[in-house]
Amino acid sequence: MTGAEKSLRHTLFTWSTQGGLDPIEIVSAERAHFTDGQGRRILDLASLVLNASAAIHHPKIAEAIAKQAATLPAAGPGMATEIRGRYGEALASVVPKGLGKFLFTLGGADANEHAIKIARLVTGRAKIVTRHRSYHGATLGALAATGDPRRLPFEPVMPGVVRVLDPYCYRCPFGWTPETCRRPCIDHVEEVIRAEGPETVAAVLVEPVVGTNGAFWGPPEYLPRLREICNRHGILLIFDEVLTGFGRTGRWFAFQRWGVVPDMITMGKAITSGHAPLGAVAVSERIAAHFDTKPLVTGLTHSAHPVSLAAGLATLEVMREEGLVERADRLDLMLAEALAAIAARHEVVGDVRSLGLYGVIELVQDRGSREPLLSHDLGRRALARGIHLATRWNYVFIAPPLAIAEDDLAHGLDTVSELIGHLNR
Ligand SMILES: Cc1ncc(COP(=O)(O)O)c(C=O)c1O
Repeated sequence: MTGAEKSLRHTLFTWSTQGGLDPIEIVSAERAHFTDGQGRRILDLASLVLNASAAIHHPKIAEAIAKQAATLPAAGPGMATEIRGRYGEALASVVPKGLGKFLFTLGGADANEHAIKIARLVTGRAKIVTRHRSYHGATLGALAATGDPRRLPFEPVMPGVVRVLDPYCYRCPFGWTPETCRRPCIDHVEEVIRAEGPETVAAVLVEPVVGTNGAFWGPPEYLPRLREICNRHGILLIFDEVLTGFGRTGRWFAFQRWGVVPDMITMGKAITSGHAPLGAVAVSERIAAHFDTKPLVTGLTHSAHPVSLAAGLATLEVMREEGLVERADRLDLMLAEALAAIAARHEVVGDVRSLGLYGVIELVQDRGSREPLLSHDLGRRALARGIHLATRWNYVFIAPPLAIAEDDLAHGLDTVSELIGHLNR
């Protein structure tokens, strides 16, 4: 029996109908490659699930985990540990000043749920504004904040979430074109807040650069004006950087491209380069001060788990030593040019967008109607060619480990281009 068959026998796989499932078996890994159950070396253009960003297997992170496990493998969430102090200090050095206090969670979904809980505790208000094309995690509270259809089978979910339309310029929900645009997407947020009653809104929660709902971001004024709107109404601004944090877009955090500082940042995925489960909520000094005199009414058994924190610390060290954020920024142009060439070559490519080492190819039936062309079995066909690719709806994502060699990136993109050439409309 193969490893995949054994895994299927007693365990459930997420996001999948279990019958007839044929999961990829991963046996070992290096930086941007893994070896599958058939001994094939696969180039990973998806960093597993956009989490193994520094590397899929980095010996230094693995060693730090082993060392921590040998010294102190467990601690209560209410206990102080040496690694907790060291990692807190290191993480504070990569976020904007004034956001250097963290609540540790187990991943991205519960980081978002905790940001929502904190916003409610601090403001005494209940409503959360999020966007339609958004994903904030699969647990019920995070799904309630999520706009995309993964929420629908679980309705009714947590009340109090109010959704606004997206700053998705290629498919502007307001029908504007880049030439005529007067930023209705921003005014709309304030209109909705006014209609809801600003005094009832605790927070606005957005992905500064959208993840699996299309990898787009708003016009340059979008985030700065969101900040102004929140300030005007005493509303907290939360940036979900679970997918874009830790160098993916060529900055430690994507929002840093726009010079805006939120009240909270939620993190996960690449925080340990996928080597251990961890998430975090960074909170402002004002929010932290609130809990000096009032209880933080929350807790998770494995919050601040020493082994995960050791993985997080080693990941930051690796990223610094290898200059991975700078590398993603440097490769920004290479990826952007390669995507532009793919767009020029194929009629079925409606738009391409990228920042750092995070890109998307948006497939369309034809460029006039912009009718989406589903990526169908592109992922499976890429795998047959030795490339692991993330696809969803009509999107093909390019998000390799930040340490990927230029040759490998070029080869991966050539293969993707070739496969797009064989797509049937
Ligand atoms: C933007 C964003 N937020 C939150 C999450 C949830 O993170 P996790 O799966 O670690 O709970 C994800 C996961 O894909 C994400 O992309």
